[in-house]
Amino acid sequence: MPADAKSPKKLSNNRAALTHKIGYALRHPGRVKPYIRRAGRDAWLRVKHPDHVGYYRAVMASDTRRNPEAAVGSKTHDRWLALGQMQFDYLIEHGLRPEHRMLDIGCGNLRGGWRFITHLDTGNYYGIDISPDILMAAKKTLTERRLQEKLPHLTIIGDLTLDFLPGNHFDVVHAHSVFSHSPLEVIDECLAHVGRILTDTGFFDFTFDRTEGTEHQVLGEDFYYRTETLLELARKHGLHGQFMEDWEKRPHGQSKIRVSRSPLPAA
Ligand SMILES: C[S@@+](CC[C@H](N)C(=O)[O-])C[C@H]1O[C@@H](n2cnc3c(N)ncnc32)[C@H](O)[C@@H]1O
Repeated sequence: MPADAKSPKKLSNNRAALTHKIGYALRHPGRVKPYIRRAGRDAWLRVKHPDHVGYYRAVMASDTRRNPEAAVGSKTHDRWLALGQMQFDYLIEHGLRPEHRMLDIGCGNLRGGWRFITHLDTGNYYGIDISPDILMAAKKTLTERRLQEKLPHLTIIGDLTLDFLPGNHFDVVHAHSVFSHSPLEVIDECLAHVGRILTDTGFFDFTFDRTEGTEHQVLGEDFYYRTETLLELARKHGLHGQFMEDWEKRPHGQSKIRVSRSPLPAA
């Protein structure tokens, strides 16, 4: 998603509407062919994998085969570096310390992860992902960055029940550009379980594609939510939630929400 996607006009766009698609095609004729190719591939993958996680895992396998950095959303290596730096700087500004224990949900190929692993004490970084292909790329990043001694945990998952992780354990849980690819039931599952693994003072930050208009999705790959929908979901699971205004100033198309078990001071 481009950095200007939070402009008032884009916040009210419904990208699933036919009128939007026609207007977009007229404005960007060069993007029509790649879109049709992607829609065809995705339709086939949906037939083969009717459940969302299976489907998205297959999307990631296909995208990662071509280019792991593009598969996590960065068209160039410089963008990959910049996006990781942005995630890292934000959490450092919000108090991430080496002794903290961090869970990175949907860690991808460690775009942000390698910086967190460098910063955190040995063994304190946990990355989980549904895609075996991107986790293999993550191991490559780890090796290239010579971070073996930091012994990060990288685990493949099939759902977001987080049931294999200890309770009351993580100071920071993080999901960057994951709920932007998730239907509401996946987010619901995560919010239902994340409170158990957070410490009492811990928090869970996640980004999402925000709309101020109709909630919608494109190709089962990109999902757009209203802030209140996600805050309400957090409340339903007994979590306190806040919209992170200071993230809005960053050159990034998505917005960020922080949830916690206990009320936190406003950031
Ligand atoms: C756009 S990438 C972002 C990766 C990483 N967070 C980053 O910022 O570089 C989204 C990642 O989330 C993973 N993912 C998607 N749905 C997931 C889910 N339900 N549970 C865990 N990981 C998921 C994908 O496999 C992919 O690696």
